[in-house]
Amino acid sequence: MFKIRKAKDSDIPEVMKINLETLPENYWYGFYKNLLDNWGEAFLVAEKEGVLVGYAMSRIEEQSDPVLLGLAKDEVSVWRRVISTIKGDLRKVGHLVSIAVRAPYRRIGIGTALLRETISVVDKFYNAESLYLEVRVTNYPAISLYEKFGFRKARIVKGYYSDGEDAYVMVLRLKPTQA
Ligand SMILES: CC(C)(COP(=O)(O)OP(=O)(O)OC[C@H]1O[C@@H](n2cnc3c(N)ncnc32)[C@H](O)[C@@H]1OP(=O)(O)O)[C@@H](O)C(=O)NCCC(=O)NCCS
Repeated sequence: MFKIRKAKDSDIPEVMKINLETLPENYWYGFYKNLLDNWGEAFLVAEKEGVLVGYAMSRIEEQSDPVLLGLAKDEVSVWRRVISTIKGDLRKVGHLVSIAVRAPYRRIGIGTALLRETISVVDKFYNAESLYLEVRVTNYPAISLYEKFGFRKARIVKGYYSDGEDAYVMVLRLKPTQA
């Protein structure tokens, strides 16, 4: 059994360790602290027998890009992006910055539980219109997890990662689409 709970300041060093073990995208202490201080409801950890085994951290952004809002596919969005930007039509969206589970604890539903709670908090607590994330185009386990929750591949960002790999931007619309 494991439990999902909100992170505390004292969890940050262990979250940083999990991140270093599991992902090449690493951050400095202040980056984590800033997310926790500003969007603490969406900074989650998974705990099993008193050990931190995973985390998911998100922030809430103001965006006008219809792709990030889950309203358009990349190829039709160029003019809408320009128009939305000019109109200053900013809306609240969630950005899943990082999610990871320690290798020995994978495939038992912890990633699913972290993502389910993230979606719930970003939707209900922060009232965001969508949740988006970037993922390596070869990260099949993560892409499969996101697709199970209904995330769509909305855009490719060429050379997004520091080693040159491309990213998919994947988006989940949380609110009904208005006409
Ligand atoms: C992606 C990750 C968070 C999934 O965590 P997890 O706890 O193993 O996920 P779950 O056990 O809840 O699995 C949920 C679904 O994810 C997909 N999945 C997870 N691992 C997979 C794998 N090795 N191969 C294929 N699909 C996989 C499956 O669809 C799985 O559902 P299933 O078990 O019913 O087939 C984990 O693999 C991880 O930490 N990876 C390294 C960090 C990372 O890549 N993070 C994402 C960055 S964008």
